[in-house]
Order: sequence, then C-alpha cells, then structure tokens
Amino acid sequence: MPHRITLIPGDGIGPEVTAAAVRVVEATGVSVEWVRQEAGMVAMEQGSEAPLPDALLESIRSTRVALKGPITTPVGKGFKSVNVALRQKLDLYANVRPARTLHGIKTPFQNVNLTLFRENTEGLYSGIETYDERLDIADATARVTKAGSERIVRFCFEYARKNGHRRVTLVHKANILKITSGLFLRVGQEIAKDYPEIECEDRIVDNMCMQLVMYPERYDCIVTTNLFGDILSDLAAGLVGGLGVVGGANIGDEYAVFEAVHGSAPDIAGKGIANPTAVIQSAELMLRHLHEDRAADAVRGALEATFEQGKTLTGDLGGSAGTREFADAVADKVTSILNDRA
Ligand code: NAI
Ligand code: MG
Repeated sequence: MPHRITLIPGDGIGPEVTAAAVRVVEATGVSVEWVRQEAGMVAMEQGSEAPLPDALLESIRSTRVALKGPITTPVGKGFKSVNVALRQKLDLYANVRPARTLHGIKTPFQNVNLTLFRENTEGLYSGIETYDERLDIADATARVTKAGSERIVRFCFEYARKNGHRRVTLVHKANILKITSGLFLRVGQEIAKDYPEIECEDRIVDNMCMQLVMYPERYDCIVTTNLFGDILSDLAAGLVGGLGVVGGANIGDEYAVFEAVHGSAPDIAGKGIANPTAVIQSAELMLRHLHEDRAADAVRGALEATFEQGKTLTGDLGGSAGTREFADAVADKVTSILNDRA
C-alpha cells in the first residue's frame, strides 16, 4: 500500500522546492500517492472562496500527513495567515524545528545540534486582535493556557527521552509577562520533574538570543511559546546556514504537516535558484514519522554527502546550482546509498 500524502505546493518558491523534495522522496523508492491541494493566493485564483479551502483540510484529515510549501501572507491587510489557521484548525500544537550543523556549509560554528519546540496554536498568535477606531488603540491577546503549555512541554520532554537528548531549556519572559509567560514557565518546571534524567533549565528570551548567537553548542532542546519560537527558529536557522537549510514539522495528536521554517521568498521566486534543502529535510522528518527510517537515513546521508563534496550548492550557500540541479544531485546520492546497502 502506498502512503497517501497531501502535497501543498504553496506559492512563491513553494512549487519549486516542493517539486525538489518530491523528486528526492521518489528516489528513495518509498511508494507514495500524492494528493495535491492548493492554498492561499493560488487557491483564490483557481476559484476557491477561502484561502484555506475545506477540500485541503478534508484531504489532510483523510491522509493524516502533508508535505507543504510556504504560503504568502499579505502584510498588514488581506487574509489572515493560512499557515497559522492550518495549525490551529488541525490542532498541530507542536512545531518541531531541528537546526544542526551540516558539514560542508560554512558557518562560524562546528557542532550546533538544536531542536526547537514551538507552541503552535496559542500565545500572541491566537488571532485575538482588535482596533478601537475612536481611540486609535490596537490590542492583541496573548492567550496561554495550562493545557496548551502542558502538552507542548510534555511533547518536548518525551521527544528528548526517546531520542537521547540530555537537556531542555524553557524559554520565557516571565519577569515582565508574569501571568502568561509565568504560567508557561511554572507548568514547564512542574513537568520537568517527571523526567529526572533530563536536565531542565530556563532562560529569559532576550538573553537566550544572545546565548544562542555566542554559544549555540551549549544548547540542546528548547521549548517555548509561539512568538518566541517563531523568532528563535529563524535565529537557529541562521546558525547553521540560513533559512534554506532548516526543515520542520507541525505535529498534533491526529495529523502532521511537514514544512520548512522559511517563507515564500518572493525576492527569488520563479527563478529556479531557491535552496530546496529545508523542504527536503522536512521530507526526511516526514519519512521518519511514516516509519520509513531507511529512506530517511538515505536522504540525510545524501544531503550530508552533497554538502561535504561541495560541488553542487545553491546561491545562498555560495554555489551556482539551480534548485533542480541540486535536487538531482541529492536524488542520485539517495539511489547510490540505497544500492550500496542492498
Ligand atoms: P522568507 O523566509 O520567505 O525569506 C527571507 C529571506 O530568506 C529572503 O531573502 C529569501 O530569499 C531567503 N530564503 C528563504 N528561503 C530560502 C531558500 N529556500 N533558499 C534560498 N533563500 C531563501 O521570509 P519573508 O520574506 O519574511 O516572508 C515572505 C512571505 O512568506 C510572507 O508572506 C510570509 O508571511 C510568508 N511566510 C510563510 C511561511 C510558511 O508558509 N510557513 C513561513 C514564513 C513566512
Ligand atoms: Mg517564521
């Protein structure tokens, strides 16, 4: 039986980088039936009434797994973020974003291995924003719940336990946001007691930014609320080669949607030059989620070999290869890794 996977190409560089990831997944020989769905501007142009069509949600409810390209969100006007809505509607509460050193990519650090866990459904991204026309005052509600904090922190500790991580850092701003961030911190410290073998510490978010820029090798798993996680995950990407190389997963109890940390990159869209590594890494996480570990290992090995060789790199990493050329190089290596092992 093939795996049925919803494929959301997205917009901007989305269709280019997701095509590259599909190419690499197909090279693993894992049998997949892709169910293609459009969202955002593309869906509207094709006659959908909403940027997040019901058909797309229904598709994921049926396949349970999706690989997704980025979707543009109009800034300051227009429709609300399809990405945020998707995570909320499918209750994909855990956004997991591993940022680790890929040898062959030049960065100031040698051994970064961070796994960021971002709460994905509440906090300042709850979508509760109002504007008082009379007083010209804008408000946003950062809703933090005990249950929401518990499940993301527990998800992080369970992941740490299962994958042999030794340390979890709770990131917050409980000195200022005593009630909301305070709740997250308190719940986190309580749950940590169930995992005595894992060291737990906490950091205030601004200090955490400085620590990560100076000493990223000292950190392991990081768990935090939605806004801080959004910001820290781009920062973490910057430590290991940029937005082009960090993949991620949005996971709930029922469904999982795999996507890069980066957005639709309108500045380079349509040129065939985007780095597809981030979506390929997301596909690797997806293969592990589907218990296709042998295929996932081959994808990881192929990416590492491509970077170590350093011959086929995209522009963001100082090379001149196009998106498709890079994907072909990785796919070829996947094939030879799997043949060698056979
Ligand atoms: P962005 O991540 O799209 O781009 C930031 C910078 O990184 C740009 O210079 C871009 O060229 C570069 N970059 C990103 N991905 C790259 C790749 N794969 N290869 C090479 N270079 C890459 O962030 P920006 O510009 O803030 O957002 C653009 C749009 O994307 C916005 O509409 C935003 O709302 C949306 N967005 C969507 C996300 C999603 O679908 N999950 C996540 C983040 C942003
Ligand atoms: Mg972001």
